[in-house]
Amino acid sequence: MTDRKTTHFGYQEVPVEEKAGRVAEVFHSVAARYDVMNDLMSGGVHRLWKRFTIELSGARPGQTILDIAGGTGDLTARFSRIVGPEGQVVLADINESMLRVGRDRLMDRGIAGNVEPVQADAQYLPFPDNTFDCITIAFGLRNVTDKDLALRSMLRVLKPGGRLLVLEFSRPQSKLLEKVYDQYSFRLLPFMGKLVADDADSYRYLAESIRMHPDQETLKQMMADAGFVDCEYHNMTGGIVALHRGIKP
Ligand SMILES: C[S@@+](CC[C@H](N)C(=O)[O-])C[C@H]1O[C@@H](n2cnc3c(N)ncnc32)[C@H](O)[C@@H]1O
Repeated sequence: MTDRKTTHFGYQEVPVEEKAGRVAEVFHSVAARYDVMNDLMSGGVHRLWKRFTIELSGARPGQTILDIAGGTGDLTARFSRIVGPEGQVVLADINESMLRVGRDRLMDRGIAGNVEPVQADAQYLPFPDNTFDCITIAFGLRNVTDKDLALRSMLRVLKPGGRLLVLEFSRPQSKLLEKVYDQYSFRLLPFMGKLVADDADSYRYLAESIRMHPDQETLKQMMADAGFVDCEYHNMTGGIVALHRGIKP
C-alpha cells in the first residue's frame, strides 16, 4: 500500500500530481469548440454572468487587470475596452490551446495593444507582489488542483485594496432547480458535447467537477482563510452560478 495523496478529477479519485494533466487534456480537447459550446450549454446566459462580473469589478481606465484561467478571453476583451490605452490586461491560462484560441479571437476582434497573453498556473502566478488592481477567475477555480494555494497566490499579486472576483458554478438554491439541473447536466450535456464537439467525456467532467466544487459558503470561507476581507457572494440563475468577491487588505 502506498499513501500517495489523491484529489478529485470530476468523480474520480486521482493522484494529486495527475490532476493538472487530466484537466489539460480536457481543455486541449474542447478549445476549438469552446465558445460555441458555451453559448449552447448556457443558452447565451454566460454572457450575462460575465457582464455582472465586469460591473462588480469596478474596473476603470488606466488599471492593471489579471484575467486568470481566461481561456478564450471573454472577460479580457471587455476589460481591454474599459482600461483603455493607459491600462493593461493580462490574459493568463495554463493551457496553450485555450490561450492560442483566445489570442486569435482577440486579434480577430481588433483587440490589441493593452492585452498581454501569458501562460501561467493560478497556483504559482509569475508576477511581482502587489501588481494588479483586480483579478478575475471565471469558471477556472474548480479545475485548479490546490485552490487554497491559488487563492493565496492571487492575494499576493493583488495590490492592497484590489479585488478578486471568482465566477464559478455553485449550488442551486432550490431542490426543484437542483433536480432539473441534474437531469440537464448528466443527460443533456454529455449528449450535446458528443453531438457538437464529438467529446462526451469532457462534458461529463464538466458536470462532475461542478458537483465537487465547494458551495457558496465554503468558498467564501476559503477566501477569508486565504487572507481576503469583506468577502461576499451573489447568486445568479438561482445559485447555479455564484460570483464571489474579496478584497486584499
Ligand atoms: C471553463 S474554462 C473558462 C475560460 C474563461 N474564463 C471563460 O469564462 O469562458 C477554464 C479554464 O481554466 C484553465 N485552467 C485550468 N487550470 C488552471 C490553472 N491551474 N491555472 C490557470 N488556468 C487554469 C483551463 O485551461 C481553461 O482555459
